[in-house]
Amino acid sequence: MSDRGRDRLVEVFTEGMAGVTPDVPPSYEELEAAALSAMDERAYDYVAGGAGGERTVAGNRDAFAEWRLWPRVLRDVAERDLSVELLGTELSVPVLLAPVGVQSVVHEAGELGTARAAAAQDVPMVVSSAASHTLEDVAAELGSTPAWFQLYSASDEAVTRSFLERAERAGYDALVVTVDNDILGWRERDVAGGYLPFLDGEGVANYFADEAFRDRLEEPPETAELAAIREFIDVFGDPSMTFDDLERLCAATGLPVVVKGIVHPDDAREAVDRGADGVVVSTHGGRQVDNAVPALSALPRVVGALPDDVPVVFDSGVRGGADALVALALGADAVGLGRPYVYGLAVDGADGVEAVLKNVLAELDLTLALTGYDDVAAVGREAVVRADEM
Ligand code: GLV
Repeated sequence: MSDRGRDRLVEVFTEGMAGVTPDVPPSYEELEAAALSAMDERAYDYVAGGAGGERTVAGNRDAFAEWRLWPRVLRDVAERDLSVELLGTELSVPVLLAPVGVQSVVHEAGELGTARAAAAQDVPMVVSSAASHTLEDVAAELGSTPAWFQLYSASDEAVTRSFLERAERAGYDALVVTVDNDILGWRERDVAGGYLPFLDGEGVANYFADEAFRDRLEEPPETAELAAIREFIDVFGDPSMTFDDLERLCAATGLPVVVKGIVHPDDAREAVDRGADGVVVSTHGGRQVDNAVPALSALPRVVGALPDDVPVVFDSGVRGGADALVALALGADAVGLGRPYVYGLAVDGADGVEAVLKNVLAELDLTLALTGYDDVAAVGREAVVRADEM
């Protein structure tokens, strides 16, 4: 049962009575501004930026304004359950930390700090292939917290297989295969700043530690870093990947496979037909295609194209608990949180991530109750109405 809402309010009001206000602002706009002052400007632009003129980043947010929660009252909501079951794992909350790579450019603690906060709050984490710490080290930090590994299919199959086997050995509960980032999008801020963190040797830990990757090198990364970075650029992502490759990948692992980066119902259907166990409806935070359909607008169509028992995770544009509830009402089984926790990391390391998680989950818990539900898994389409119908 959840008391995340009340617990957080008691915590902040108690501290407030002692004259202490939170370092991590509850408002997303203020959190983003705080992250901007805490971070190197180019790193900030890398995180905040999106594809082209950033119309998808904006559209992902605007899409939430097309829906309104429709509160119901006088229902017994004294005891609430935020847990959901996904791919055979019980999650204490329907919110995951979405895969975000190269977190060392945000804060020196990087993914280890994020994992510490995830473990403290029992929030599942999706660990990126492009993490600044190895998947093994992050898994150790997560302990028994549910953990999924995000996999980029490499252009060298031996490297892909090696990552997959390492994720299995390290105890990850599922694989999230990202299919919308095999080619880096056109990101104006990064082009203007001439900045890609991987070229500084950040976000390559999983590759540099990988035996199959190291087999490709004439000299180890420890003595020839530049050559290793060049090799990483060659290996990262496989733009020739097709549904046939996805099918082989699904068959090659005993772990459940979730395909991330889907916005078209036909792609969702085919992914599942080819062996995927679930999908993540996502525009990669608006970072890949400018002026793409907003993820939230795609969500009901993707959900409608799939059998009821296929899990759908949603990300791109979730900023707080009320957003999460809208996505759940539109058919998501869980939502991914991206930039908000990364900004928390920038502002105050692991403690900053933890504060963001407490805030988002408190808002989710309270909004769930205040819309008349005691069970997050029971929230359905009736919980929202189109804004233009009111
Ligand atoms: C990588 O996934 C990125 O969005 O930068």
